Amino acid sequence: MVKTEYYKDLTKMNTFGMKVKARCFIEYDSVADLVDIEFDELARPVLHIGGGSNLLFTDDFKGTVLHSKINFIEVLDESPSGEVLVSVGAGVVFDEFCEWASKEGLWGVENLSYIPGEVGASAVQNIGAYGVEVKDIISKVYCYDTLEEEFVNFTVDECGYGYRDSIFKNPRMKGRYIVTHVIFTLSRNPKPVLDYGHLKDAVYCQSDKCQSEQGEDAVEKFLTPAMIRKVIIRIRKDKLPEPSVMGSAGSFFKNPVISMEHFRKIETTAKSELGPDYKVPHYIIDCQDKVKEIPTENSSESKLLTVKVPAAWLIEQCGWKGRRSGGAAVWEKQPLVIVNYTGEAYPEEIIGLENRIITSVKAKFGIDLHPEVEHI
Ligand code: EPU
Repeated sequence: MVKTEYYKDLTKMNTFGMKVKARCFIEYDSVADLVDIEFDELARPVLHIGGGSNLLFTDDFKGTVLHSKINFIEVLDESPSGEVLVSVGAGVVFDEFCEWASKEGLWGVENLSYIPGEVGASAVQNIGAYGVEVKDIISKVYCYDTLEEEFVNFTVDECGYGYRDSIFKNPRMKGRYIVTHVIFTLSRNPKPVLDYGHLKDAVYCQSDKCQSEQGEDAVEKFLTPAMIRKVIIRIRKDKLPEPSVMGSAGSFFKNPVISMEHFRKIETTAKSELGPDYKVPHYIIDCQDKVKEIPTENSSESKLLTVKVPAAWLIEQCGWKGRRSGGAAVWEKQPLVIVNYTGEAYPEEIIGLENRIITSVKAKFGIDLHPEVEHI
């Protein structure tokens, strides 16, 4: 069924809680409904939203907002080797999919637990957390091509995934394809990914039984997706604002990638300011965005590598942690997040704070921060 509303209040449809309206709002609940929508005749521009968790509405939306309620989780196939293909509708809340997988004992999606948003948007923006990106478990993305008016699908390789990026975000493709459902490959075989930060320690401490068992092998055997999910949810609840209590769009900025040479300069300055033993948090990455060990300073490999520096650290060093500016503020426990502190913040206040952060990080570190959040 297709439901159309005019001058729709979007306050509850964007996690930042911006009080904006859409001139036209269309919600549909089946793949077939898309054929009935006359895309040529919609008020422009057209914006397809998911959970509205990565958007900053800067004003009322003068065109058409579309929203999918395609809501199914279906196991398509299970191979004897333990691979399980699952088809999930674009309108499913991503964390409901994570919860379903953990109850089924299926591995692959547990590290992405509690990320706000819906399945369709997850495949567009390649959501990621704790060492896993959604591209690692996507097999195919099914879409409706609004230009050719036909259903198409893309293999994971064809989606051109990068850090919070895909072909669907490419300005030439943007808005053309509407994700209808996504095929994920999960697994019955244990595949814990625990290398990120202190995740392993947190998971190992989760259970008394784990602690009393000796050796890593014993712990690995004991792990379940549900156990890892529980730990991830606790970490996220500790660090990130609860969207229902305080509006935000999660990480506001992307983590910047800089040259090794640039990083060494930053580290030298940090050591002079913060002490000789101070270590600037960072991840060395190769051209395939894979984390590497630190090479020696003058090795030839060193010149080919780049370094991802947590934007949270850069912002904290510039003194922004916990600071307020009008109705907006920098979240005190994770400065990568800008919050609608009063619940009444205007878009201009959020953008003003964003610009001041960008300017000060540029002045102190010579690094350009880029928003992860899409400004509409
Ligand atoms: N840090 C600080 N100060 C702080 C908080 C963090 O210096 O107050 C530094 C620490 O060194 C910490 C590092 O930043 O080790 C990384 O922090 P965190 O693990 O929280 O991850 P992040 O890089 O800040 C990314 C994603 C998050 C995701 C986490 C966990 C981006 C833009 N953000 O944040 O994604 O949850 O990793 O994997 O890549 C989101 O996209 O909305 C989101 C929350």
